[in-house]
Amino acid sequence: MEVIILPSPEEASKVAARLVARVVRDKPTAVLGLATGSTPLRLYRELIALHQADQLDFSKTSTFNLDEYVGLATDRPQSYAHFMQENLFNHVNIPPDQTHIPDGMAANVPGHCAEYERAIQKAGGIDLQVLGIGSDGHIGFNEPVSSLSSRTRIKTLTRRTRADNAPYFGSEDAVPHHVITMGIGTIMESRGILLMAFGEKKADAIAKTVEGPLTALVPGSALQMHVNAKVIIDEAAASKLTRTDYYKWVYDNKPDWQKF
Ligand code: F6R
Repeated sequence: MEVIILPSPEEASKVAARLVARVVRDKPTAVLGLATGSTPLRLYRELIALHQADQLDFSKTSTFNLDEYVGLATDRPQSYAHFMQENLFNHVNIPPDQTHIPDGMAANVPGHCAEYERAIQKAGGIDLQVLGIGSDGHIGFNEPVSSLSSRTRIKTLTRRTRADNAPYFGSEDAVPHHVITMGIGTIMESRGILLMAFGEKKADAIAKTVEGPLTALVPGSALQMHVNAKVIIDEAAASKLTRTDYYKWVYDNKPDWQKF
């Protein structure tokens, strides 16, 4: 894992956007895996700015989102389909038929999940998967003790995740119990991973993900087995890591060709 610690979420998101932009410029037909929630909001704003000011072109790019709430129609403001329209898709030139989000209203959930996996394969696999992380260490909505080989499927949210997401719904009771999420095995097949986390609330999950033992109790720790995973975090999210001096040393001494 490459751990990049930057002073603020703003600076971290700028670096993350440069990384995504490089993937899209090097391979215009790139397949991006996307996340929702508060963490990638600044990244999406940066990508919109790069599209508007620097002609970053998404016309050949495809996207696959990690997850969606079961039972929420795409026009509901809390749905991740709505989130993606508002925060990215309406502002860049990705053709709508090249964007994919699990369908929370699917009548046949297992069939839909299998089809989602097939669509990722048909697109050639994901080049770069953007991830946030839950305070309990979940990636996508793979909650603790999810199989480290899991595929896209229905999951039940933990109490803690429902409490974390309650502000978007007005109350904890209104947060759906179920989600469709890419599995950890699905995420691990991406050719590159970009995990972002900001704030003290994520410090424990980040310490366990990066430095803790590999365990299904902390789904993020599976990324220790990925050949190309970058973790871009602010100082607060890095505050429980033990090797910050080394991570900063590596970043400050990157050879020019590795900089982004
Ligand atoms: C969202 C997702 C989740 C979030 C995580 C952190 O698509 O897959 O894993 O990344 O719950 O959420 P925020 O960023 O709101 O703290």
